[in-house]
Amino acid sequence: MNLDQLTPSSLGYFVFKSDKLAEWNTFLKDLVGLQLSDKSSDDQLAFRMDKQEQRIIIEKGTANDLSAVGWEYDNDQSLNEIVLHIKGKGVEIVKADQKFCESRGIKKAYICTDPDGVDHELYYGASIIPMNDSFKSDVLVGQFLADRFGAGHYVANAENVEMSLNFYRNVLCIRLSDYITGEVFPGGPVLEATFLHTKTGRHHSVACASIPIPKKLHHFMIEYENMNDVGLAFDRFKKADTPFFMELGHHPNDQMFSFYVQTPDGFGLEIGWGGIIIEEDNWEVKTYSQLSDWGHVEPRSNDN
Ligand SMILES: [Fe+2]
Repeated sequence: MNLDQLTPSSLGYFVFKSDKLAEWNTFLKDLVGLQLSDKSSDDQLAFRMDKQEQRIIIEKGTANDLSAVGWEYDNDQSLNEIVLHIKGKGVEIVKADQKFCESRGIKKAYICTDPDGVDHELYYGASIIPMNDSFKSDVLVGQFLADRFGAGHYVANAENVEMSLNFYRNVLCIRLSDYITGEVFPGGPVLEATFLHTKTGRHHSVACASIPIPKKLHHFMIEYENMNDVGLAFDRFKKADTPFFMELGHHPNDQMFSFYVQTPDGFGLEIGWGGIIIEEDNWEVKTYSQLSDWGHVEPRSNDN
């Protein structure tokens, strides 16, 4: 079978493990604009960004890092096909029990682990909230760009990039978008990143690079539909004295207009608008020579 037929539809959800649940609640609800889900409990926070029951889950724990990623499939048949493929590759994959699926708000799932120890939860049948309880943010003027395009993207910090890319491309069957080989800042270290996309075509759902940080995750990204929400969030984070990784800027490959802040667990969150959607038939894989067209500079201080 062609590997492209086994590609997941989208990145359905992120799971982080953290001992800073109160900080995450303020960060994601009041500053980013997510909605606290009814799936939240004493042991986890769960957040909505659209009609899906949960898109970002913060489980109580001490890793303070990315714990798992959910990959959505359209139906039971396509889930069964990818599981057969993964077993054929000699990678261990186990069926999740009913209790686990209920806690995730999904019908059926299988779990495998990547070379860096992050779990990948392949599933179908996410729980959808009825129309009379539509997504509501306390702070956004528009909506999140989610639904069929999924929760967002992330940049995995791989200990061995070749092994991780083999896992993403040949085991999970996530498709190549493009590459960037560029200096992190003028005269600084060169970063080589590979960007990969799922079936519904968000420019990338995951990118992979080797980055000298003590986390499995460099950053994750969520996207607004209204550009003004990026500016309004920028103002909220400045007012809250949240440390910034990078100020406003524009990426050459996914065309994302965005900024980066530090999350309560130390890795980054990119808040963006305007990312392109890949049309498979017209897509050409390119290698870009810079990470940003303009901007994305480190702030000199957080009080300017
Ligand atoms: Fe990003």
